Amino acid sequence: MENFVLENPTKIIFGRDTIAGLGKEAAVFGQKVLLVYGQGSIKKNGIYSEVENSLQAAGLTIIQHGGVKSNPTLAFVRKGIELAKLHEIDVVIAVGGGSVIDTAKAISAGAVVEHDVWKFFSGKKGISSPLPIACVLTLAASGSEMNGGMVITNEEKGLKVGTGNKKLCPRFSILDPGATFSVPPDYTAYGAVDAISHTLEFYFTCRGDNTCVQDRFMEGLIINIMEACDKALLDPHNYSARANLMWCATMALNGWTSAGLGWVGFPMHMIEHAMSAKHDVPHGAGLSAVIPAWMRWQAERQPAKIAQFARRVFNIAAADEKGAAMQGIERLTAWFTQVHSPTTYKGLGIPRTTINELAENSQFQAKI
Ligand code: NZQ
Ligand code: ZN
Repeated sequence: MENFVLENPTKIIFGRDTIAGLGKEAAVFGQKVLLVYGQGSIKKNGIYSEVENSLQAAGLTIIQHGGVKSNPTLAFVRKGIELAKLHEIDVVIAVGGGSVIDTAKAISAGAVVEHDVWKFFSGKKGISSPLPIACVLTLAASGSEMNGGMVITNEEKGLKVGTGNKKLCPRFSILDPGATFSVPPDYTAYGAVDAISHTLEFYFTCRGDNTCVQDRFMEGLIINIMEACDKALLDPHNYSARANLMWCATMALNGWTSAGLGWVGFPMHMIEHAMSAKHDVPHGAGLSAVIPAWMRWQAERQPAKIAQFARRVFNIAAADEKGAAMQGIERLTAWFTQVHSPTTYKGLGIPRTTINELAENSQFQAKI
């Protein structure tokens, strides 16, 4: 167990009918709200009016910034920063999934500085005192609702880059599992893959020898995510399945799983971000195409940990390490296929000829 400090400032308000409390919670931070949301799902499923009613009942002024696209872009962030400065916004509220929340985070950081917001992503500037951010989560996936990370695509440079700072942690996030009933099967599955990948990145790249607490915590999250996803795909309105999926996805990337692991990497994400930047694939779909290949590569170097994963998550009985590791990878790949998340490059519709370009792109990101 390595030394660590774990401090997560986000207040989580979890459960049924919690969106009604948004206005009262947000009013603590001021009167003027920049409301950031996606391409329209919240207008179709009724969440938009719940949010608007709650903010108006609390006497707050709403400035709209709707239209965030999946794999959110720098251009849209810059427009949001202009709005935030023009209207002297007090709090930025994200209603959506990771793309919306990350956009809100970038706006909140860029709205209080004179330099371009991309300087935070290129490492040229540090994040000082962003505007307060709050979230209403509508998709169980990224974990952005309870961490200080943000990932934005610079469409001019063809780069998708993440950066982070504890000050970007939302002040509060409302997690109502009912808000995810309308998530379609593909994004239910992609979100589960993303959450699983957040644990795998730490599980396989940590270097310490005494990681049994974190290992079993992550193994439990993975088992629960697969079970909950299967149930939510069978019945999208299964509240318990949606609640378990939502809370596991948040726990998978809020600092708890990696506490005490010391150094950890994010290699599968580095590769996937290049794919999303260049080919605009859904983040979770890109990951399910990367994970099996990356795990087979890793099994050549570190069969023991992959064999442990196989034995504990999939009850693989094979005696030899390599055999168990390969069977575990096959079982995980079979689950991706079962939930219709692509497991190969071809499955994503990306031509193999682009492999070198993607390798360069992901290496460039890793150096930033
Ligand atoms: O745009 P709308 O119309 O809202 O539709 C969205 C979008 O098409 C839809 N959706 C969301 N909630 C819904 C819904 N549809 C029906 N009912 C609902 N309740 O789902 C689609 C995908 O939304 P998006 O926000 O893109 O998905 P996700 O939450 O997976 O976020 C992906 C982004 O998160 C970043 C990724 O890079 C990607 O850009 N990540 C952020 C991280 C972080 N900040 O810590 C870490 C992650 O590894 C990840 O990289
Ligand atoms: Zn991810």
